[in-house]
Amino acid sequence: MMFPLERPARLAVFASGRGSNLSSLIAAFPPADPFASVELLVSNKRSAGALSSAEAHNISAYALPFGGDRERFEREVDALLRAFRIDLICLAGFMRVLSPEFTARWAGRLLNIHPSLLPAFPGLHAQQQALSAGVRESGCTVHFVDAGVDTGKPIVQRRVPVLPDDTEETLAARILLEEHQAYPEAVRLVVSGRVKAHERIMR
Ligand code: GRF
Repeated sequence: MMFPLERPARLAVFASGRGSNLSSLIAAFPPADPFASVELLVSNKRSAGALSSAEAHNISAYALPFGGDRERFEREVDALLRAFRIDLICLAGFMRVLSPEFTARWAGRLLNIHPSLLPAFPGLHAQQQALSAGVRESGCTVHFVDAGVDTGKPIVQRRVPVLPDDTEETLAARILLEEHQAYPEAVRLVVSGRVKAHERIMR
């Protein structure tokens, strides 16, 4: 399967938490949008706000607890992805690492959003890492997922200033507003075939 398709791409979103990026994708791709439609939400946490947001929009939502068994999780996810004929997966606050086999199978069709200007500050607590490092600018990155953590090729980056009196919360909130623009933009670039593995668009 190669982008562009001759129809809207069918998206799955994987989320472990509140799901504000899920909501931004749902809003950006309403029914009959020519680029994409959000068809499936998968969460590894039963309590995730993302599950109720998906249900509120009549999007099929599944809680698949990861437990210690990544293989089982990925087997169950694979069945869902096939059943829903998913073209593109968007990780959005999904707090588990997928296997190298899974990321290889979905190479070019698996995206993540991270709250820093990668390659700076990968991993957990990216906003606090930026504050601790004393940088004057941070932001967010949507990138293709490879077998590493936050290491795949960037697709879209959006920048924000880091202000002198910022806390982790104020900086995270400023970055989150940009995330909500960046993710739909990255999805459009990928599904329209305008960005593939080795291209990069800077903001
Ligand atoms: C976002 O900051 C995203 O960059 C990070 O996890 C957070 C998820 O937020 N990977 P939400 O659940 O989409 O509101």
